Amino acid sequence: MTRQIIIILDFGSQYTQLIARRVRENKVFSKIIPFNTPAEEIAAMSPKGLILSGGPASVTSKKSPYPDKGIFKLGLPILGICYGMQVITETLKGRVKHTKKREFGKTELFIDDNRDLFNHLPGNLTCWASHGDFVTKLPPGFHTSAHTLNTPIAAISNRRSKIYAVQFHPEVTHTEKGNQILSNFLFKVCGCLGRWNMRSFIKETIENTKKIIAKDKVVLGLSGGVDSAVAALLIHKAIGRNLRCIFINNGLLRAGESEQVKEVFRTAFHLNLGYVDRSKRFLMRLRGVTDPEEKRKIIGDEFIKVFEEEAHKIKKVKYLAQGTLYPDVIESMSPIGSPSARIKSHHNVGGLPAHMKLKLIEPLRDLFKDEVRLIARELNLPDNVIFRQPFPGPGLAIRIVGEVTCERLDLLREVDKRVLEEIRNAGLYEGVWQSFAVLLPIKSVGVMGDERTYENVAALRCVLSVDGMTADWVKLPYEVLEKISNRIINEVKGVNRVVYDISSKPPATIEWE
Ligand code: XMP
Repeated sequence: MTRQIIIILDFGSQYTQLIARRVRENKVFSKIIPFNTPAEEIAAMSPKGLILSGGPASVTSKKSPYPDKGIFKLGLPILGICYGMQVITETLKGRVKHTKKREFGKTELFIDDNRDLFNHLPGNLTCWASHGDFVTKLPPGFHTSAHTLNTPIAAISNRRSKIYAVQFHPEVTHTEKGNQILSNFLFKVCGCLGRWNMRSFIKETIENTKKIIAKDKVVLGLSGGVDSAVAALLIHKAIGRNLRCIFINNGLLRAGESEQVKEVFRTAFHLNLGYVDRSKRFLMRLRGVTDPEEKRKIIGDEFIKVFEEEAHKIKKVKYLAQGTLYPDVIESMSPIGSPSARIKSHHNVGGLPAHMKLKLIEPLRDLFKDEVRLIARELNLPDNVIFRQPFPGPGLAIRIVGEVTCERLDLLREVDKRVLEEIRNAGLYEGVWQSFAVLLPIKSVGVMGDERTYENVAALRCVLSVDGMTADWVKLPYEVLEKISNRIINEVKGVNRVVYDISSKPPATIEWE
């Protein structure tokens, strides 16, 4: 069966990704594309329906974004949401007016036509709206299917051409029965079957990869995180040992990490895995360096050099595989200054060296992180890979403030190991975004037994975050803090003081460097 797809035209709403997610939760594959994608390109994707997202613009302004008019001639079912409804109205010769009377937040929706979109819904429900423009005249062939006290035309439909639109946001959880409205569109209007799931994704991906790559060779940088791991396993299932994975030990890893990667991927999953220990080279180049940006640059450069050297050893390699995820793809293509077009503060050091001339293969570029975790589960990856907290490419180097030396790395590994053990023991590991230790470039006086000590200070960092862009420090129970501090000071020689970082991001960042 070919994959059924719903196309979402992105007009820059902060909820566009949410629409994509809601559609997928209904087991229908969805894809977000720029609002101005030509109609022929859309037709070539053979979608079952189109959704026009909301957005920050106003159709009453001259510069407002419009889709290719040809989309209305494709005969496809269309659902417009908020700005999407206004675009439909203006394009099909209705009228939208800007008023000072904004409708924002929860409001009562009264349903006037309970067929199609509003099937199986009560006569009134709470919906969530956010708009200052109102449809004041229906386009020919349309009728009003719902209203609110402030918005006489809150939903419109044209049953003949299967075009529907709502002024509120069915994709947000504050809209009661929002999912029913979306699933009515998917199943009643578009005739979707709802058969897309992770198992079917795995099957399709393996088949496609086989077809595309055939007998060519692929190289992949394995980091130990879930994304590169899942990408590797999927490609491995398609082409076996023609996938060469490279794991680079840069000497900046946490305790036990390289052993774990070898154990899981070489022994348990039989991947063709090259393990290269280049820790000496990395540490040599980092000698005497204390500036955070310089550290990052050196590590990034060196990583790419080592990766290229290793890739060149493999004869006839044609492809580079990466575990790129959908949010990164969406960010890089956003046509409008939408909230999703954020500036990245860093890049993953596993990125593509521009001059390598390898073709890219990114089997996860259509997936969200939690979908990748579901696949990881289907593929039987162990939990410590699936739920591993994010770990930065430059590794422990940016958690040692000041110069990175072998001794300080060893010290931080011992501290970090205990932090993670105690966070796990407290059952907090998977609930927090990251929990780790930072080694500070200062010493403090202490007393142990009858002896005066003058030793290192470790800072503990534990944050909650959804995407790493903003973060809050975790209010860890005192008992957990106490246990971590006691263990570090008693068990790790060279540390006599532990402090807790209580800064949020912004204005601080998660990492110290
Ligand atoms: P910051 O410190 O910028 O970190 O608040 C946000 C998130 O990104 C991770 N991070 C990195 N990840 N390469 C990576 O792959 C990097 O250079 C890098 N720098 C920071 C950090 O651990 C946090 O989750």
